[in-house]
Amino acid sequence: MKKLILLVIIAIRLNVNAQTPVNITPEPVMTKINQGEFVLTNQTTIINNSKTENSKKYLADYLLKFYKINLFTSNEKTKGNIIEFQLDETDGNNNQYQLIITDNRIKIKGNAEGIFNGVQTLIQLIPINQKDLRIQALEINDAPRFSYRGMHLDVGRHFFPVDFVKKYIDFLALHKFNTLHWHLTEDQGWRIEIKKYPLLTQTGSCRNQTLIGPYGTGQYDGNKYCGYYTQEQIKDIVKYAAARYINIIPEIEMPGHSMAALTSYPFLGCTKGPYKVMETWGVSDDVLCAGNDSSFTFLENVLDEVMQLFPSKLIHIGGDECPKERWHDCALCQKRMKENNLKNEHELQSYFISRIEKYLNSKERNIIGWDEILEGGLAPNATVMSWRGEEGGIAAAKSKHNAIMTPGTPVYFDHAQSKNEDSLTNGGYNSLKMVYDFEPIPKELNNEEAKYILGAQANMWTEYMDNERKVEYMLFPRMTALSEVLWSPKSTRNWQHFESKIPSIFERYDFWKVNFSRAYYDIQPTITTDDYKGIKWKLTSNYPDGIMYVNSPKSRDDIEYHSPVQISESGNYKAIIKDKNGKYLSSWMAQEFHINKACGRKIELVNPPSNSYAVGGVISLVDGILNTKGMSKSSQFLGFSGTDLIATIDLGGIVSIDSVKFHAFEQNVSWIYRPSQVSIFESKNGVDYELSAVLGEPEGKSNLIYKMAKPTKTQFLKIVAQNYGMIPSGMPGAGNKAWLFADEIEVF
Ligand code: ACM
Ligand code: ZN
Repeated sequence: MKKLILLVIIAIRLNVNAQTPVNITPEPVMTKINQGEFVLTNQTTIINNSKTENSKKYLADYLLKFYKINLFTSNEKTKGNIIEFQLDETDGNNNQYQLIITDNRIKIKGNAEGIFNGVQTLIQLIPINQKDLRIQALEINDAPRFSYRGMHLDVGRHFFPVDFVKKYIDFLALHKFNTLHWHLTEDQGWRIEIKKYPLLTQTGSCRNQTLIGPYGTGQYDGNKYCGYYTQEQIKDIVKYAAARYINIIPEIEMPGHSMAALTSYPFLGCTKGPYKVMETWGVSDDVLCAGNDSSFTFLENVLDEVMQLFPSKLIHIGGDECPKERWHDCALCQKRMKENNLKNEHELQSYFISRIEKYLNSKERNIIGWDEILEGGLAPNATVMSWRGEEGGIAAAKSKHNAIMTPGTPVYFDHAQSKNEDSLTNGGYNSLKMVYDFEPIPKELNNEEAKYILGAQANMWTEYMDNERKVEYMLFPRMTALSEVLWSPKSTRNWQHFESKIPSIFERYDFWKVNFSRAYYDIQPTITTDDYKGIKWKLTSNYPDGIMYVNSPKSRDDIEYHSPVQISESGNYKAIIKDKNGKYLSSWMAQEFHINKACGRKIELVNPPSNSYAVGGVISLVDGILNTKGMSKSSQFLGFSGTDLIATIDLGGIVSIDSVKFHAFEQNVSWIYRPSQVSIFESKNGVDYELSAVLGEPEGKSNLIYKMAKPTKTQFLKIVAQNYGMIPSGMPGAGNKAWLFADEIEVF
């Protein structure tokens, strides 16, 4: 009888074990589940040595904070079970670790950093919201895929106090990141105390007010905004990060994005000011003067203090978005160009960066900069941070320079992660899945070149993040997805498997009391067309037990959704998810449709849109959805960088047409310019086109509507919107290709 009871108990235990899922993110290289479990209690003793003290302290602090458990830390024989850190300092072991959990012992073996990463894995194995802390017996062998696993934090647009920066560093540690790129100086604020130049923080750390409306709208809050870190605070943060094996790369922006420095010390600019710390985002024409040696003396002095504070081998010197207007008109800058045989202002930028690089190299440091540092020739030892797509990283790797991949799509975390986002965000749309599917090694690189891609990073620009909860919301869960991109082997990366872990990941966020986005559960709308006969509204959702309902302008009843809904009349359509008792699980998702003769018809483009602004695909030009929300709903636009929009639409047969409307978008501060000309051509056979009209001035402001009110009968229409071209001097983005943004083509 006793034997039988014992067997039953074993069976139940095995069953419990089988049901305890092991959800670790980033996914380890190898996990082998064994039988048994380790029960963590106040009696558990930790054994380590002085070199693994960081890991011991981290684990002990975590257990105390989240579980009220005080680990025994004596090495003497105790009655409890044991957590042991076994240092293995074999050369070249790439921070790998081994974690073995048995009934009475947890062993983590690796070098000091490897053990620290092993602790992060162990933390995820400790149950949450359970009385007994039973940890599954298993064996894990693990190592990172990339040596650079970064997150960025912009404290220029909004300032975050020391405690939050530390919290952010802990978020990095918990996800096995090893680099914080700390963006410390900006047009909107200088945030680091420099003893030699006290005005940088006395003057440069404050702006008079802050833009609170969408970019370009001029809606300000009217409140003075200030903040900076003292050198003592910075030392404290650097030490805090180092104890978590996180290197902090400080960024001191130059020669652009320097309005806070120019306002503090106007001698640094070409025109000598007066200047004003910026209240809106964007790109300033005023930049550091490249002709005046005082600019370099200033920067060298600033960098001397920065290097005292940050042991990082890499120092970020910015280099992005530096208009060349002022240099073009400045006698000193022109003199410098002449003396150094520099052909144009791009070469002057290259001179600027190379000169700073030489200085930093002389102090045993290397520079890293945004991909504009490639323009006019790359400084010899520079690392490139590729942000305007992958091209900068590809060019760097092909020229044997290290690169870090941070392309705007998909790793700018200031962009919305929901198509139904109701808070204000900057830029386009980067969903959780887009982040998860990100591959840092561009396919254009061969194996040899790929070695120069050290890793990747997501950028957290805080234009519209004026509080900590918003930063967390924009960070999670996308950062968790990125951790798997950076850590786990490419071959084991699997979206379905990651999705299966999402409930436990979200549970852990709640446990940590962090704010996060539930956009993963949003109703996801897409527009489809069957045989180009009108449009259908296709809805999906990830709620496991949710039932989706749709209500249309004709019938306001909630009809259960089974298949894509044909949208044949204009009006407001809404969708919701309820549980089986009718309780709402989601919020309403609403969409206004404007039905016309072009909706869902076959449309083709001669030039493809830029990858960054093509989320909805070509059908978004004829989906009956008008974007009236500007850039914050940029997933509705197609964006063309320097190229024309040439679209042909097949109306499916000869139809009578009263008018045609072409909707474009204009926002010069974002380098988006109206087309220089819009023409419409028509054809009855799709081969021979005749000009129908060159359209006159559009109606509207920013949302532009070009109209052709000339009745005709035809089957094919061709819309040609000519790109504005190179942006001329004196306009935002001068010297760059203009963006052409197109929203919708309507035929009535
Ligand atoms: C950047 O986003 N301007 C690097
Ligand atoms: Zn100058």
